[in-house]
Parts: sequence; structure tokens; C-alpha cells
Amino acid sequence: MKNEASQEGTAASGAEPFGALAVRRIRAAARDAVVLLEQLLAAALAARPELLAHPVTSLTAGPAARGSRPGWTRWSHAARPGRWIPVGVSRGCETIICVTAPTKESPFLRACRRQPVPHTPVWFMRQAGRSLPEYRAARKKRKSMLAACMTPDLVTELTLQPLRRYHVDAAILFSDIVVPLRAVGVDVDIKPGIGPVIGKPVRREADLARLRALEPSAVSYLVPAISSLVAELGSTPLIGFAGGPFTLASYLVEGGPSKNQERTKALMYGDPRLWHALLARLTDITIAFLQVQVSAGASAVQLFDSWVGTLSPEDYRAAVLPHSKRVFEALAGTGVPRLHFGVGTGELLGLMSEAGADVVGVDWRVSLDEAVRRVEIGTALQGNLDPAVLLAPWDVVRQRARDVLSRGRAAEGHIFNLGHGVLPETDPDTLARLADFVHEESARG
Ligand code: CP3
Repeated sequence: MKNEASQEGTAASGAEPFGALAVRRIRAAARDAVVLLEQLLAAALAARPELLAHPVTSLTAGPAARGSRPGWTRWSHAARPGRWIPVGVSRGCETIICVTAPTKESPFLRACRRQPVPHTPVWFMRQAGRSLPEYRAARKKRKSMLAACMTPDLVTELTLQPLRRYHVDAAILFSDIVVPLRAVGVDVDIKPGIGPVIGKPVRREADLARLRALEPSAVSYLVPAISSLVAELGSTPLIGFAGGPFTLASYLVEGGPSKNQERTKALMYGDPRLWHALLARLTDITIAFLQVQVSAGASAVQLFDSWVGTLSPEDYRAAVLPHSKRVFEALAGTGVPRLHFGVGTGELLGLMSEAGADVVGVDWRVSLDEAVRRVEIGTALQGNLDPAVLLAPWDVVRQRARDVLSRGRAAEGHIFNLGHGVLPETDPDTLARLADFVHEESARG
């Protein structure tokens, strides 16, 4: 059910068509009923562990970690200590049987599919990177950012670093949106403190020849990195990602970061034929790049069209939507959830879900209960705490996070995240505390 009308009409009035409201209420009631059934089942399994449906994959004895509660505990493992997993039997604070659910039953993937979850899953965009002292230390010793993205051991290490600190429900591959551009031969570099810079920008028809197709062999270094991550992560999903067509085009046309993307828009308005030819090539590259990640084991993909919020809905529909749609359609057969995110995209949320995403990411400018009205029915939401809130005292962080969780309850599925990436000056301890708070505050039952 496409809801252009609700995007344009009801978003402004705040009212919701009666039919849509009824459907939403029925879905919410059904979801509550399933949560109750799952709680009854969990209680039954705690009493009769031999009835467990999931394979018992690990046995642990030892004190349950801080914050554990009957029915759930944290599992400690050198690589990823302390994730919530269902417990078959617990005795006092000693866990005697741990059962790991398969990845596809992880809270993150369940929320993407809009299924009931034991707690609201959480991860942070840019959870790896400069906010972590161990990242800065690992990068100091080594090569450029792009070379790091092409070194499997380093990719694995940098992807896992945040999971050792935070009880997040997903890992995101350590890479960058310009990695596939480099792989097809574009002279792109990532300059510290600046971002991607392109040697020869793409502005004319003849420049398109430099954007050849992406051969999977050109990003073959991703395969060992993703394989070892999947093995290491167990039931925690790994998110693969790529840049959205507008954002990639903006770096190529501008030659680097730009506040208002004037040159990009000049090309889009002035030469629609060249614009669509450019976006069609970028779309092919993006599809191939995401397919490599999924084939290697990524269990969800996020398309970051970070800078597309600079467009009006009409221009987005004509200039970008057909290309994003093609990315999501091409990935549909893989069965992995597809997430879609951009900054300042409040007016585009309906169109971004129309492009075919299962989950739409929301920045902090639109509250999640309002975002629910703007996206299509059947879409989960991700977001949307302002990353700058994390620089305020903990009481403020907690109160704002609680508000995000409470507004997120209006969504058919909610994944807690920031409204954009972690700021480099963020204290990692605040993020660790926030991930725990999200789990505790949202725990069902
Ligand atoms: O933890 C993670 O989120 C995984 C890693 C990740 C990076 N880039 C690593 C990175 C992800 C998901 C990205 C995506 C990305 N890259 C986006 C979309 C997300 C967003 O923030 O909107 C965009 C627009 C880029 C392009 C890019 N690359 C920018 C704007 C920058 C930052 C420039 C700077 O130094 O401030 C980069 C560099 C980059 N990508 C870094 C990291 C860890 C910093 C590199 C360093 O260590 O110097």
C-alpha cells in the first residue's frame, strides 16, 4: 500500500485516515498478543529446558553479568562479551544453560521484519571510528583509510572493536561508501578530517567512461573479512552497506565534500540525460558491491544516501527514486533486510520507503511517531537520537533516549540508533551506558 497521500496530506495536518489507523491498531494488538505468547513460552522453557526448540550451542557456568534478570542473561566471549541471549535455566545469579538463537532470530533482524522482540535492538551509525581510542591507536600504525578498508585483518578488528565495548545488537562492516568507486578505478582518496576527495571529478559525458562495472574480484578482500566476522559474531548480525546514488554522485561531481551540492544539482537540473546515465552506472556498481557483501555473509544491508535531504520530494522522485528502487529490487531476492538512511530527509521519508526499503532511518529532525505517519505501512523505523545529545550530561541522554523509545513504540518495528553518525568527540562510556539503557528500558516481560 503506497501512501503518497499520507506523506503529502496527513503529514501536514497530523490527522491519519481511519483505515490506516485501524490497521495500525490491529497490528499493535496482534504484536502484543505475540509478545505475551512468547513470554509464556519462555517461562515454560525455563521450567522444562529439555523442550528447548533452539539447539543448545553453549554451556556456561558462572555469575550472571551486571544487569541480568531471570530468563535472560549475558553471554561472555572474548570477542564479544555480554550480549543478551535467552537462558534455559538460571539459578540465583548463576547461569547453567545458555542457548543462542540463530542470527535470523536476533532482535535486530526480527525488528527489521517487524516481528516481536525481547528488547528494542540498538546499534550506532559510525560506532567504529575516531570516538574509540583503540581505533585511533590501530589506525596510527597503518596506512591510509582506504588501504585499511582493503586489509581483511584490519577490517575484522575495526568492525569488532565497538562490539567489545557496547552491547549493541548488530555490527557494521568497517568500510566506506567510496570503496567501490576506488575498486572501479576512480582516483578517490579519504583525507583525514575532510572526507572523500576525487582527483578528476565527473562532470561530462566523456567522464562516464571512467566508471566501469564493478567486478566482484575487485573487492575480493571483503570476502575473508566478512567470513571471519560472521564466524566471530555468532548470532549477532553483520550489516553491509553502500552509498546511495545521489550521495555517491555528489562526491564524484563536486570532487569532494560540499555543503549544498550546487554543482551536483546544476548537473541534475541542467542535463537530466547525463544525470540519469551517471546514476544508472552508480546503481550498477552499488548493486554489485552489496551483492558481494551479502554473498559473503552480511545479514542486512543499509543504503546511506546521506546527502539526499538537499532535494525536494518532486526532484527526489524524478532524479533519484528510480535508481534507489533498482538497488532495493536487485537485493530483494537475497531475503536480507534492506535499510535506507539519509540526513535531513523528513520530507522524503515516504518516498524513501516507497523505494522499497524494509527499514527507513530517521534523523533527529522528525520524531519517530510522526515518521510512522510518513512511511508506508509495512516499514520499520531506525533512529533517531541527536548524536549531539551524547555530549550532554547523562540525565539528559537518558531522558532523550526514553523519549525516542516511547515514540518508537508507534512504529511496526523499531531499531534504536542515532539520527546520524557518532561524533568523534563522544565519550565511548556514554555509548556503552546508552546501549544498556535501551535494553533495560525496552525489555518486554
Ligand atoms: O562504524 C561504522 O559506521 C562503519 C564505518 C563507516 C565509515 N564510513 C568509516 C569511516 C561507514 C558506515 C561509513 C559511511 C560513510 N562514509 C558515509 C555515510 C554515513 C554518514 O556518515 O552519513 C559517508 C557520507 C562517508 C564519506 C566519508 N568517509 C566521510 C564524510 C568521512 C569523514 C571525514 C572525516 O574525517 O571527518 C569519511 C572517512 C571515514 N569513514 C572515517 C571512518 C572511520 C574516518 C577516517 C579516519 O580515521 O580518518
